Amino acid sequence: MSKNVIVAKDLTLAYKPNVPIIKESSFKIRSGEFVFVTGPSGSGKSTLMKSFYGELRPQSGILQIGGVMMQDIKPSKLAFLRKYLGIIFQDYKLIKDWTVKKNVMLPLLIAGYSKEVCDSQTARLLKHVHLQDKGDYYPLELSGGEQQRVAMARALAHNPVIILADEPTGNLDEYSSRVIWRLLEGANEQLGTTVVVMTHSIPPNLEVPYRHYYIEEGKVYEIA
Ligand SMILES: Nc1ncnc2c1ncn2[C@@H]1O[C@H](COP(=O)(O)OP(=O)(O)O)[C@@H](O)[C@H]1O
Ligand SMILES: [Mg+2]
Repeated sequence: MSKNVIVAKDLTLAYKPNVPIIKESSFKIRSGEFVFVTGPSGSGKSTLMKSFYGELRPQSGILQIGGVMMQDIKPSKLAFLRKYLGIIFQDYKLIKDWTVKKNVMLPLLIAGYSKEVCDSQTARLLKHVHLQDKGDYYPLELSGGEQQRVAMARALAHNPVIILADEPTGNLDEYSSRVIWRLLEGANEQLGTTVVVMTHSIPPNLEVPYRHYYIEEGKVYEIA
């Protein structure tokens, strides 16, 4: 049995007291799983993801990410936890004043690797997302699909244990969407990375087996 990397027990999430977005929900995600969390717009997918990377504290219940209790996590511990996470957003969240190369290198710089390691790892990652010729470009000189591939390279840079993705292909054309799904599947299959994707709809033609949770009226239900 592989270990649980995300555990929620009676988890309640809220922005304001008495207005719960996620209500007393319990679920477990094991190491190496590929998991979708679906639900209609406004159901709480992004809210749930925020709790996974520590931007939103549980209002009540238990949330454990990589063995870390999120309800009373200290800033130093949060910085430590983030080294285990690769995060991808619908709007990419690249730093516009930095080149593609520097964006991808960011997590490596934070992790304190030498310049040589940062350079070679960044070149390898850009090749992996088919952007080896775009390292010196700025994000706004790229298409949306290319920007998301940069975000993907950045998310993979430090070999995360868990990838969290919030509508990663929501704004992308079909070709770029396929590339992103392939990369997520590849990380899961080849590296055993746990992948958790929040999305309003699961893409067809996925090759990896996956599990599925659905959010309805604040409750997280296991579908598969
Ligand atoms: N920062 C916030 N402050 C207050 N309410 C919020 C905030 N962000 C989201 N919400 C509310 O939480 C609910 C769920 O939003 P969200 O998690 O973004 O849904 P989804 O990602 O499934 O579309 C919505 O009703 C939304 O208005
Ligand atoms: Mg959302």
